[in-house]
Amino acid sequence: MGLLLKIFTPLLGLALAVYFYSAPENFSEEMLRGKRVIVTGASSGIGEQMAYHLARMETHLLLTARTEAKLQKVVERCLELGAASARYVSGSMEDTTFPEVVVKEAENTWGGLDMLILNHIGFSYFNYFNGDVGHVRKLLETNFLSYVAMTMSALPMLKESEGSIVVVSSIAGKVGSPFIAPYSATKFALDGFFSSLRQEFIIDKVNVSITLCILGYINTESAVRAVSHVIQDKPAPKEECALEIIRSGALRRRELHYPALVASSMVLLRGIAPDFLDSLVRNSYKVENIQRA
Ligand SMILES: NC(=O)c1ccc[n+]([C@@H]2O[C@H](COP(=O)([O-])OP(=O)(O)OC[C@H]3O[C@@H](n4cnc5c(N)ncnc54)[C@H](OP(=O)(O)O)[C@@H]3O)[C@@H](O)[C@H]2O)c1
Ligand SMILES: *[C@@H]1O[C@H](CO)[C@@H](O)[C@H](O)[C@H]1NC(C)=O
Ligand SMILES: *[C@@H]1O[C@H](CO)[C@@H](O)[C@H](O)[C@H]1NC(C)=O
Repeated sequence: MGLLLKIFTPLLGLALAVYFYSAPENFSEEMLRGKRVIVTGASSGIGEQMAYHLARMETHLLLTARTEAKLQKVVERCLELGAASARYVSGSMEDTTFPEVVVKEAENTWGGLDMLILNHIGFSYFNYFNGDVGHVRKLLETNFLSYVAMTMSALPMLKESEGSIVVVSSIAGKVGSPFIAPYSATKFALDGFFSSLRQEFIIDKVNVSITLCILGYINTESAVRAVSHVIQDKPAPKEECALEIIRSGALRRRELHYPALVASSMVLLRGIAPDFLDSLVRNSYKVENIQRA
């Protein structure tokens, strides 16, 4: 059984990867030209890289995160790269009024919106769950409820433009891994909410696409700092990851799996051999390097 799985699942994973990765339609950067796009968590990491790609594609950009000084620099760079326009609004998604503030800013500036890219996450620790329920509650506010709030505020504009919602999630939103219980919970919540909403949109003939991005380990500063002592795999490049997210959103795909083979194989194994997958994950971690807090 074990050997069969080892041979069979990568093959099926590959088939799935090809399915999710290769678009039947061709992506062209012109698809984004002149579009009005919000990117959250755009001051660093994958969000920052998405802003630069979108700038080169000549979009109108509204960026958000907490750190104003970083956003200022990213906006400047976006203008150099060719953005049709670029501005930012700074604030924390822990603040329950902030999601609406961001969407209102788009409404006041553009009077509409074509793409909403939800990407930010609040800080969480990488360690055994410490029992802090308050932290889980706060992280749900930042990583999940603010996504719901932004979506609901932006929906009238997205309906009008037949626009797109792009939700950045993780393999940890499909598969349980150790040391990230609060984070994983917020990412699973995104799948539940947005997959349900997608169904309702189809029933209601609401032509707004929802793309859920299932990402593996990406070489952003914060991720490498948090996990590189335990996860030995080579992280995938954030620049390519950012482009794949934009591409899947523009093509109105249901899900992106990136890196394709790893993400697709893990999602598949979760369905057919969860205990086997769990042991593979545990064995790939250097658990001895986790210092219990
Ligand atoms: N990197 C990976 O290995 C990996 C793997 C799977 C999934 N992902 C997903 O990819 C997305 C981006 O990850 P990343 O690695 O690029 O993260 P990152 O570099 O740490 O960026 C996080 C962004 O969120 C902002 N942010 C943090 N706390 C916030 C708050 N309270 N309110 C509003 N904004 C806040 C940060 O800016 P400020 O600090 O200025 O607010 C920053 O712009 C996330 O959804 C993550 O779950 C990443
Ligand atoms: C995609 O591009 C290829 C080569 O550029 C072309 O042959 C094909 O017809 C295109 N497909 C669509 C759906 O436009
Ligand atoms: C939905 O919107 C997209 C983008 O505007 C468009 O290409 C597509 O034809 C629309 N589909 C329907 C069924 O109206």
